[in-house]
Amino acid sequence: MIRVLFAAGPQNWAEYEAPLRAAFAEAGLDADLSPDHAPGQADYIVYAPKAGLEDFRPFTRCKAVLSLWAGVETIVGNQTLIQPLARMVDPGLTEGMVEWVAGHTLRHHLNIDHCLAHQSGAWVRHIPPLARDRHVGVLGLGALGTACARTLAMLNFRVTGWARGRKDIPGIECQSGRDGLDAVLRRSEILVLLLPLTPVTRNLIDERALSLLPRGAVILNPGRGALIDDDALLAALDSGHVGHATLDVFRTEPLPPEHPFWGHPRVTVTPHIAAETRPDSAARVIAENIRRGEAGLPFLHLVDRGAGY
Ligand SMILES: NC(=O)c1ccc[n+]([C@@H]2O[C@H](COP(=O)([O-])OP(=O)(O)OC[C@H]3O[C@@H](n4cnc5c(N)ncnc54)[C@H](OP(=O)(O)O)[C@@H]3O)[C@@H](O)[C@H]2O)c1
Repeated sequence: MIRVLFAAGPQNWAEYEAPLRAAFAEAGLDADLSPDHAPGQADYIVYAPKAGLEDFRPFTRCKAVLSLWAGVETIVGNQTLIQPLARMVDPGLTEGMVEWVAGHTLRHHLNIDHCLAHQSGAWVRHIPPLARDRHVGVLGLGALGTACARTLAMLNFRVTGWARGRKDIPGIECQSGRDGLDAVLRRSEILVLLLPLTPVTRNLIDERALSLLPRGAVILNPGRGALIDDDALLAALDSGHVGHATLDVFRTEPLPPEHPFWGHPRVTVTPHIAAETRPDSAARVIAENIRRGEAGLPFLHLVDRGAGY
């Protein structure tokens, strides 16, 4: 019997219990899933941040911690965690992110806001360029960035991506390194941030980075709030150098009511809804990782603690 501790909080338990039980049965796992296993008995931990578990030292038989979240910045530096940590790469979450990024890219590409603002009877025709003439930059070419970049390329956008390592993705020009970042920024009329938050990526989009963007560029940030220097972004928005920012993630969430992003004419706030982990597909990912652990196979989606993601 494999004991799986569900340590992702009562609200998630209500959503995940049935899908996890179904996924374990489908995977042929003889698993005892509970939010109440004693620490010394748990073989695996299903984890989410802010659910109360911060000290992993008592979990002496735990073989892996399996996160329900894709972003792991709040747990990756936890010194008490010596077990392997797997992050969430969920097909359902990826689909959601692709839809959010494609939708918001098309909003700005087609200038849909302009149409909505001019419904007074004046027949003023603004012809948008074709996607083939629009440069989109995607910072981060992991599970989510690659899926988004591919979809945008399928829509004919001229997509340039940036990652830590070298990439070869058909239809996408891939860059790496500081010079590569500058090259992506210089041409990105629409810039999508899908980087994890690490000591290296924190404040990556600062005054200098913003100054490299073409005038009027649009920023979409479904990655993490602290990738951007808020003050530098506000200054760039106020001057018109950045035409619009559509932001899903923030340094403080919920975004405080007094924050200048709220109500800013060049900012769209979405409340961290770009991509939610979907219980049915995510439960299968958890089950597969437990099956692999039991079979002595390497875990999927392991976090590189040194790199921070
Ligand atoms: N808003 C939402 O609802 C939501 C939902 C899920 C996730 N997210 C965010 O999206 C992020 C990305 O998720 P993912 O699953 O795509 O992550 P991932 O698969 O780990 O991909 C991360 C990408 O960032 C690149 N990268 C990391 N550090 C870098 C650096 N210093 N310089 C250049 N590139 C760097 C990586 O490069 P390599 O490929 O070379 O390693 C990789 O391409 C998550 O960390 C999370 O913060 C947001």
